[in-house]
Amino acid sequence: MDQPNAIREPVPDRASTRRDPEEESVHRALERFYRAGKPPWDTGVTPPELVALVEGHGALPPGRALELGCGTGTNALYLAQNGWEVAAVDLIDRAVDQAKQKAAAAGAAVRLLHGDATRLDELDVPGPFDLFFDLSCYCGVPLHRRDAYAAGLTRRAAPGARLLMFGYGPEPLGNPVTEVASWAAGVTADELRARFAGWELLDVTPGTNAMPTFWFTLRRDAQQRY
Ligand SMILES: C[S@@+](CC[C@H](N)C(=O)[O-])C[C@H]1O[C@@H](n2cnc3c(N)ncnc32)[C@H](O)[C@@H]1O
Repeated sequence: MDQPNAIREPVPDRASTRRDPEEESVHRALERFYRAGKPPWDTGVTPPELVALVEGHGALPPGRALELGCGTGTNALYLAQNGWEVAAVDLIDRAVDQAKQKAAAAGAAVRLLHGDATRLDELDVPGPFDLFFDLSCYCGVPLHRRDAYAAGLTRRAAPGARLLMFGYGPEPLGNPVTEVASWAAGVTADELRARFAGWELLDVTPGTNAMPTFWFTLRRDAQQRY
């Protein structure tokens, strides 16, 4: 069996030939985190904000969900185990491999895809989706790729679809990977309002981290046809 941290060449994804230098630097930095072992964000704990949306008062009825930047699959598995039909994508093949192993071990049916959340047309994820979940994927996407991210979700959103996103605010962040310029950009409510046309920003709740973080909830207009 493939060991999660065994040394092997990364598998190129279809987007790899089109990545520009800034995207390459993001890719390299992310890959380093996964190669080094367990990245700091890989806690294996589903955040209470997602649990509330799925199980809390006024929970969404299960439908189709797409996770952007699924890492090793903790939250994609959680959604599948709570009745959602789930597809999930991550840029780093090693993360997707681990997610597949976890899904197999749990007997969870999740479509786990190696690819780029800003190039969803290259993946077999036609939608429509009722829920998109993003735990600090978008806030690390280079600014010039964010319109493509928003367009990809908008094209795949069912009327009234939700997007639950966690992101870092724009500031130094104690960013340990200073050569990745785009990671200092973070994400703001104003940016999301401007970029996600046809969506309403329903809620912004500060995170509990030492640095500024936010949970954003957006809803796709109910009248829009996917
Ligand atoms: C902070 S991690 C969170 C991972 C996972 N959701 C979790 O909770 O453990 C963000 C993830 O987004 C992925 N990512 C970053 N940019 C991406 C992109 N353009 N397309 C797909 N995944 C991306 C990273 O590889 C990383 O696994």
